[in-house]
Amino acid sequence: MCGIIGYIGGKTATPFLIEGLKRMEYRGYDSAGVAVLDAGAIATRRAAGKIARLESALAAAPIAGTTGIGHTRWATHGPPTERNAHPHLSADGTVAVVHNGIIENANALRAALRDAGYEFRSDTDTEVVAHLVQELFEGSLEDTVLAALAQLEGTYGLAVVSSRDPGKIVAARKGSPLLIGIGEDEHFVASDASAILAHTRQVVYLDDGDVAVIERNGYRVLDANAAPLARHVHKIDWDLAAIERGGFAHFMLKEIFEQPQTVENAMRGRLILEDGTSKLGGLNLSHEQLMAIDHIIITACGTSWHSGLIGKLMIEELCRIPVAVEYASEFRYRNPIVSANTLCIVISQSGETADTLAAMREAKRRGARTLGFVNVVGSTIAREDDGGIYLHAGPEIGVASTKAFTSQVVALALFALKLARKRGLSVTRGMEIAQALHALPAQIKEILDRAEQIEHIAEEFKRAPNFLYLGRGVNFPVALEGALKLKEISYIHAEGYPAAEMKHGPIALIDEMMPVVFVAPHDAVFDKVVSNVQEVKARKGNIIAITSRDEAALKGLVDYEFRIPETVDLLMPVLASVPLQLLAYYIAVKRGSNVDQPRNLAKSVTVE
Ligand code: M6R
Repeated sequence: MCGIIGYIGGKTATPFLIEGLKRMEYRGYDSAGVAVLDAGAIATRRAAGKIARLESALAAAPIAGTTGIGHTRWATHGPPTERNAHPHLSADGTVAVVHNGIIENANALRAALRDAGYEFRSDTDTEVVAHLVQELFEGSLEDTVLAALAQLEGTYGLAVVSSRDPGKIVAARKGSPLLIGIGEDEHFVASDASAILAHTRQVVYLDDGDVAVIERNGYRVLDANAAPLARHVHKIDWDLAAIERGGFAHFMLKEIFEQPQTVENAMRGRLILEDGTSKLGGLNLSHEQLMAIDHIIITACGTSWHSGLIGKLMIEELCRIPVAVEYASEFRYRNPIVSANTLCIVISQSGETADTLAAMREAKRRGARTLGFVNVVGSTIAREDDGGIYLHAGPEIGVASTKAFTSQVVALALFALKLARKRGLSVTRGMEIAQALHALPAQIKEILDRAEQIEHIAEEFKRAPNFLYLGRGVNFPVALEGALKLKEISYIHAEGYPAAEMKHGPIALIDEMMPVVFVAPHDAVFDKVVSNVQEVKARKGNIIAITSRDEAALKGLVDYEFRIPETVDLLMPVLASVPLQLLAYYIAVKRGSNVDQPRNLAKSVTVE
């Protein structure tokens, strides 16, 4: 989704702005622009489409100043054209604004500003902020921005520069992430740490309501009354290599291949093999609180919601506590049953998904304790939850989530194991699961070593217009996730279904043109799945099976087969999802899709 970068220092700003924008390309965008204070005035360059077009505009007409802001826009208000691209200028050209989020009272403000004589040049909600700052300008830029913010409703991450008060960038946060980067004789503001990581790892995360004044040699954080606030300086613990492709054709492929390591990282220092349990330091839940939980709600979106479905089955099976899994976007607007003994688990790779954050706040408001299962350290969900588990998967740049998913499933297993052992799961069963978790990294590696087998299957099916993914039990969410991966990056229509549910409708779709992926490892429901395979074969469907043994029952039924190692049933999703990630990846590449930045999608959905 939209990205913000700002630079103030002793060097020409535009290379820093362009580099920062490129580092945020993965978030998804459809236009880009920069505004730089140059020789006492603001110069802007903007372009629809990729950042390369903005670079061409800058090459044709360079800007020399040392203070600037830049933006990648993912269209919400108005089409992705140059005139709607940020930064937006005030009518007199003295104020430039970049904005993430949505100004909900933009129409009312626009009408008032029009009455005051302002002409609007874009369809965006952001332009009202630029004119409003011009209209209210008095004293310093920060005082004026504070006055303007008092009139804004909605969400924002904002960065503002003005030729009337040069030498500073004023940034403000409400509901849309922003951080300050602290460099040597230079400072940055960004919506995403990866935008500034090449220059500093020292960052200050802004909280909602914060206004920051960022100058070449320092920064201040203010509250709504301009009173100074103390904010902790954090050190980002990953390096540049983590956000570069490192020889892989795409970030998605790199991230798929990182999974032996990322799954290991999710468990490091947490798994206690000899006791068959886990140690999770950040839960902030006492023994009594853990024992009192009588109901769990898991809320998330997209891929994270799929891992939540797996988490439900793990927790119910091992802990015998009822678990409801809710789409965050639905949960936040209904009247859910929450009590003091309800635990709300919030799963999010980014920790910034607007619906998930709102659902967590709603659960908290209703009295639930909240745990965030989050990948991005310092993200809003991670800072607002009552406790949680970091996934430690490292930056996930590919829009299609892969390594975060397997880490989420592992984190859920660690949590289920800990809770279950406290609530009566035998040490023997606990040790069996702990051993199985411990074995996962090597098993994933073994799958990845045979990736070319999946590439071969992808070649056979790259032109298919539809796909069906079927699985049962804990592998039904794997089917959903496999289908989501395929549609996200290859644009092939794909559905995931519980295998037995297929005959209640989707079976009508099956003919010799329909590839059907069965997630069918040798687990407790394998025999049942074989019956479903037969039903598909009888209708001439093309069957691709993810299995774990040489199964006599599948002989003659399956057209393509890929074997995964065996583990305990509950952990099968970690292994079974890997070949499905590869299948989606190879099909998408063979169809010529932009795998890392698929059309219309944003990495982090920070608007409702
Ligand atoms: O950052 P989150 O985990 O909260 O994101 C949730 C979804 O937006 C995300 O999983 C989305 O579905 C991905 N594109 C899946 O590949």
